[in-house]
Amino acid sequence: MPEFSDSMSQIKLINIVGARPQIIKASAISRAIRNYYSKDITELIVHTGQHYDKEMSEIFFDELEIHKPHYNLGVGSAGHGRQTSLMITGIEDVLIKEKPDCVLLYGDTNSTLAGALAASKLHFPVIHIEAGLRSFNKTMPEELNRIMSDHSSTLLFAPTNAAFKNLMSEGFRPDNSPPYTINNPKIYLTGDIMYDNTLFFAGLAEKKKEGFLEKMSLGKNNFVLVTIHRDSNTDDIDRLKEILITLKSLAEENDIVLVMPLHPRTIVSLKTRLKNLYDELKQCASVKIIPPVSFLEMILLEKNCRMIVTDSGGVQKESHFFRKPCLVLRKETEWIELIKNGTATLVDADTEKIRSEFVRLYTCNVPFNYPGFYGDGKTAEFILSEILMMFGNV
Ligand code: UD1
Ligand code: UDP
Repeated sequence: MPEFSDSMSQIKLINIVGARPQIIKASAISRAIRNYYSKDITELIVHTGQHYDKEMSEIFFDELEIHKPHYNLGVGSAGHGRQTSLMITGIEDVLIKEKPDCVLLYGDTNSTLAGALAASKLHFPVIHIEAGLRSFNKTMPEELNRIMSDHSSTLLFAPTNAAFKNLMSEGFRPDNSPPYTINNPKIYLTGDIMYDNTLFFAGLAEKKKEGFLEKMSLGKNNFVLVTIHRDSNTDDIDRLKEILITLKSLAEENDIVLVMPLHPRTIVSLKTRLKNLYDELKQCASVKIIPPVSFLEMILLEKNCRMIVTDSGGVQKESHFFRKPCLVLRKETEWIELIKNGTATLVDADTEKIRSEFVRLYTCNVPFNYPGFYGDGKTAEFILSEILMMFGNV
């Protein structure tokens, strides 16, 4: 690990988080700062408040040992414009007060976009982790957030070959020389910090959550893990209905349980617009709808399930980390290496596709191959060493 303390001054880094996956991602950076760079980097955490239920936010700070947010903007839920503008205003105030050396953003949520706009317009250098991912579907709010965040950034860390190539095809040049700025950004091909997290927390989950599966009467390979939260599925009632009815009948036919830690957004749609189906699912012995679980609990579910069905970006990748076949409830994905590998498959909300791919992956006896697409588990350390190289002399 490079030593910086003697030659460089301490830098102040502001992390912007807001949604569940960003809090989990930030834990990889926090851990690497604690372990290797505590003399070199002061880290502040700004939580926009986009997610606020205990099981969507606080639980991760406690479990993953992240410092409590230094600022919580308490923005909460609202339409895109209102939510993002409140975040921008709040982040701007913090940046003006704290004057950080750089602002670190994760992923593609409205909190990411707000951080990108607030920081870049005040000329604070933006660092984007998970840069370059593209679905090529601009009707997804996340796709607009990704593009705008990347184009506001100075350092861009792409987690996959495909993401790095996407940046190049949008005009980012791999051969730029320092000093790097928003007009002369630096792009990197790194691994994925969520792979760092999986390696770090997988063993801990077994110890700290002993008995979790047994309490739910779950055992190795006797359940399918399902998550659904993407707005294209939750807000389109026909799609949500088709997915849930198809999965329920597959579970019954194959005598297997569906475990569904459902996002509050999905529960709201079920309760308000699909009440009868919701009641039917709650009565069904093959379906366990549960509240969102902690990350360590999620790891145990992922590690022990037979198969994963999801529309989540993070959970798709975790299916690969835990070597589980995965049905992706979307038309397209940013993690295209999983699809090319054949272990994840796009089924949209299409009954026939869900059925045929479920049966194919469920009954396949040939062992699947899971190549190491996502780095060496030390991506956070690499990112921080580059940040220090760049900002350590300021
Ligand atoms: C957001 C991100 C999405 C990410 C997801 C991770 C955007 C545009 N979307 O989607 O990219 O995959 O987070 O989980 O930023 N709600 C609660 N309690 C909470 C949070 C949300 O009840 O703590 C409910 C509210 O009804 C809210 C709805 O969920 O209106 C949607 O929340 P929001 O943060 O707007 O978007 P997500 O669907 O969570
Ligand atoms: N996750 C969790 N508990 C849950 C569902 C998901 O800890 O009940 C974790 C999951 O393991 C992954 C991350 O949350 O690391 C993914 O977040 P989400 O699916 O909300 O968003 P996305 O990745 O699609 O943006």
